[in-house]
Amino acid sequence: QAVGLIGVPFGLAASVPGTCLGPAAARIVGLAEALSGLGHEVVDRGDLAPVRSHSRTSRDISRLGNHAEAVSHWVEAIHDETLAALTEGQRPLIIGGDHSVSMGSVSAVARHAARDGKRVAVLWIDAHPDFNTPQSSPSGNMHGMSLAFLAGDEDLAEIMRGRAFPAILPTDISVIGARSIDQEEQEAIAAAGVRCHDMRAVDEHGIRYLVEDVLGSIDPTTTHLHVSFDLDVVDPALAPGVGTPVPGGLNYREAHYIMELLHDSGLVGSLDVVELNPMRDIQGQTASLMVDLVGSLFGKAITLRSRQPVGLSRAA
Ligand code: ARG
Ligand code: MN
Ligand code: MN
Ligand code: MN
Repeated sequence: QAVGLIGVPFGLAASVPGTCLGPAAARIVGLAEALSGLGHEVVDRGDLAPVRSHSRTSRDISRLGNHAEAVSHWVEAIHDETLAALTEGQRPLIIGGDHSVSMGSVSAVARHAARDGKRVAVLWIDAHPDFNTPQSSPSGNMHGMSLAFLAGDEDLAEIMRGRAFPAILPTDISVIGARSIDQEEQEAIAAAGVRCHDMRAVDEHGIRYLVEDVLGSIDPTTTHLHVSFDLDVVDPALAPGVGTPVPGGLNYREAHYIMELLHDSGLVGSLDVVELNPMRDIQGQTASLMVDLVGSLFGKAITLRSRQPVGLSRAA
């Protein structure tokens, strides 16, 4: 299956400028070449261009968050391009941009999966669960609201201005690597029943156990797995090029091991990699790490080994 590469040079849903340069940096350090080097056919769909409005309504939605109008237009465009890639039989790889891009990509995945009678599970690998709503957000930055939107928050539905998509069930959502959660956000996650493996869980159980737990909850015959990888999940010492760094993140091997296990599972149907901020990066270090991590998810292995899929049978 060909990889459909989509660049999203958009960063207005984050407070620190610079994630709009993410796709350019990813291309410069050789993202497409890395994938084709692993034997994948890559269809580079290019970077999305800034869009004005092709929305069905023009209601003022600025109360939803900072730059909500712009976020909404981009989310619609990302949705359309991701849906086109899926319809053409490609496996979408979306390069952000800030994490609001996932509102567009995952909503398209959910819409497409529903056509096939499938549901969607989302694995959100991130220092933040991005489960704020316009009411709970301390910052108003919409990259902190993406997962709440995808889980069907009613206010945030206005972002899509009438393009309905099946909300992701909270029990089909898993977070790995969280370590910065706002108070109300924490309560909302617990109330919704989102599976949240925080950094303490990584300490206590290790990556393999957590990934097995996530994959074990997925029935591959009925479920499309979307992985959303926010680079700030990695420790800032290794990944300084992000807008909202939080100490105490994944180390180099933990990050790669997640990607290797996901590859071995054979379950990943779509991926976004977001929050690369080249303005904060040090000599392209985070951009290169991004390309290496994507490589691990797409089959790069240290030594030749047979796949050892985990979690393919439902936990008893
Ligand atoms: N929880 C904070 C907020 O809502 C930070 C969110 C950071 N999100 C991200 N995708 N980096 O403002
Ligand atoms: Mn459109
Ligand atoms: Mn995020
Ligand atoms: Mn984050």
